[in-house]
Amino acid sequence: MGLRDKFSAGLARQLGHPSGPAGKLVARMLNKGNRNDVHGAVDAADPQPGQSVADFGFGGGVGIRRLLERVGSTGHVHGVEIADTMLDVARRRFAGEVEDGRLQLHRGDLTALPLDAASLDAAITTNTIYFIEDLPGAFAEVARVIRPGGRFVVGIGDPEEMRKYPFTAHGFRLRPVDEVAALLRAAGFAEPRRRRTGDSAGAFHLLVAEREGRDQ
Ligand SMILES: C[S@@+](CC[C@H](N)C(=O)[O-])C[C@H]1O[C@@H](n2cnc3c(N)ncnc32)[C@H](O)[C@@H]1O
Repeated sequence: MGLRDKFSAGLARQLGHPSGPAGKLVARMLNKGNRNDVHGAVDAADPQPGQSVADFGFGGGVGIRRLLERVGSTGHVHGVEIADTMLDVARRRFAGEVEDGRLQLHRGDLTALPLDAASLDAAITTNTIYFIEDLPGAFAEVARVIRPGGRFVVGIGDPEEMRKYPFTAHGFRLRPVDEVAALLRAAGFAEPRRRRTGDSAGAFHLLVAEREGRDQ
């Protein structure tokens, strides 16, 4: 493997599971580079003051900050991450919100969420599903923890655009948007509404899905 390939493979590994000092740099890079897309996902999830919401695979935490602002002092935010380094960064960055009980940080996996059934009003996940093999299993888990009528927003880079980046050749699963929408339907969400966070052909995609079923 040449130097360039080694760099791409290392970057892909860090994006899928940021760790150590390089992971902390990745967290900063993610917050800066993905800010507009993640904010778009939070806004599409339309969190209301006092609601319980979550960010799955929150990375550097830019989504957590926006969710906290939107649910206000009476709301509750859950952050779920597989990467210990991201959890450490978030514990430091949001020490006050963790201390006052507005934010709970969980070590966990999208395919086995450490949350109660129907406990969330809304949730987002952005730039995570490239790293998940069992996407039907992950969406079934999200459907379990979101209450009927609650909203789930999945944010992904445009697959054709992402294929242009050499690091995506190292294990990224670049699923067509239609396939992701079909998997959301199969997991118990209504047909997702589709949005983009920009005007260009390669702009980021948002799938905004409402959990089907009735409140108990
Ligand atoms: C590319 S980063 C995206 C971070 C953030 N959501 C954003 O858009 O900037 C992917 C994040 O998803 C996390 N992740 C990957 N697979 C996951 C899984 N199965 N469950 C939970 N988090 C996961 C990684 O640890 C990493 O922090």
